[in-house]
Amino acid sequence: MTKKLSRREFVRTGAAAAGLAAASNTAFGAAPTVLTPQSVKPVVISSGNGNTRKNGGTETCVERAFRMITDGEDVLESLIAGVNIVELDPEDSSVGYGGLPNADGVVQLDSCCMHGPDKRAGAVAGIEGVRTPSLVAHAVMQSTDHHLLVGDGAQSFARNMGFEIEADLNTELSRQRWLEWKRRADPEHYLDPRERAEAGYKAGLQMVREGLIEEEHFYGTINCDGIAPNGDICGVTTTSGLAWKIPGRVGDSPILGAGLYVDGDIGAAGSTGRGEANLYGLCSFVIVEEMRRGAHPKDAGMEALRRVKENTVEQRLLNDRGLPNFGLSFYMLNKKGEYAGVAMYADEQSKYAVCTENGSALVPLEPFLDGRSTDD
Ligand code: GLY
Repeated sequence: MTKKLSRREFVRTGAAAAGLAAASNTAFGAAPTVLTPQSVKPVVISSGNGNTRKNGGTETCVERAFRMITDGEDVLESLIAGVNIVELDPEDSSVGYGGLPNADGVVQLDSCCMHGPDKRAGAVAGIEGVRTPSLVAHAVMQSTDHHLLVGDGAQSFARNMGFEIEADLNTELSRQRWLEWKRRADPEHYLDPRERAEAGYKAGLQMVREGLIEEEHFYGTINCDGIAPNGDICGVTTTSGLAWKIPGRVGDSPILGAGLYVDGDIGAAGSTGRGEANLYGLCSFVIVEEMRRGAHPKDAGMEALRRVKENTVEQRLLNDRGLPNFGLSFYMLNKKGEYAGVAMYADEQSKYAVCTENGSALVPLEPFLDGRSTDD
């Protein structure tokens, strides 16, 4: 486990590193370029829900994570404590407790986490009955030799680790939204399976258009990434996945390289939006590799979106302009503390969360394509 550093130690570490660099320049001539700074300004970024939900408390996800990181707590534990606020908030229907359920009305959750300095990871997929899948993913990382546990096995692991298992993670809101979707998608149980699947997707999109569910909650997710002053960098992604999914469907969120990727020497990247599109290109891995080659986080994210656009050729996934008809966003943070949030499309509501020493804010996502994903 990474050593905890106090605020004072952070300052000392930075000062010592600066002094050493100056000394080596004087005594030994030109030192090689230092690509990895020894001290960076701490920052936490996340999808927009990381700076809107408080679950009745006083802090948002990014605020809590930033406070804990600057108090010297482990970066990953700080980020997970942040996303727990959103997972536990019954009013957030994208994540954890009260996340929108699958087609059978059952809430199935996915999460993964990566520890940059320790080079370890853990994930769960399709887990039922635990409000905070990110904590189970962390337990997989800490207590097993594996990276991913799924379904009943993930739940039984959680039970054995002391997590409370609940019969139903629906809230009244998520249950009502599921009932409404069921009514629209399958009114008489007479559609054939193919038509029913299409009707289900269309009914979901129509509910987005009518404002019954937020667009980002259709594939609702939170990704949160952070860096401490000593350069420790970690990330976590947690989700209830695609609303009304086929039971057992798992998207990008718990898959390393897709919903999240962290290389402790380079940076972190994570995703929200249409998981299937991200999985095809393992975009978080691509983004970290782009940053390894020197790309700025924003350019790395745009490259991933470019690849997704190129890989989207099926007619059903294209709008009238021949462009992707879905949303997908990436959040990137590099080892220097530089960060960005990009989206396939963005309007004035498309924001991501940032917390620095100046406080927390919602910042516009940079769009890759103009206009909207849909035609109307
Ligand atoms: N990005 C979340 C999902 O597709 O499940």
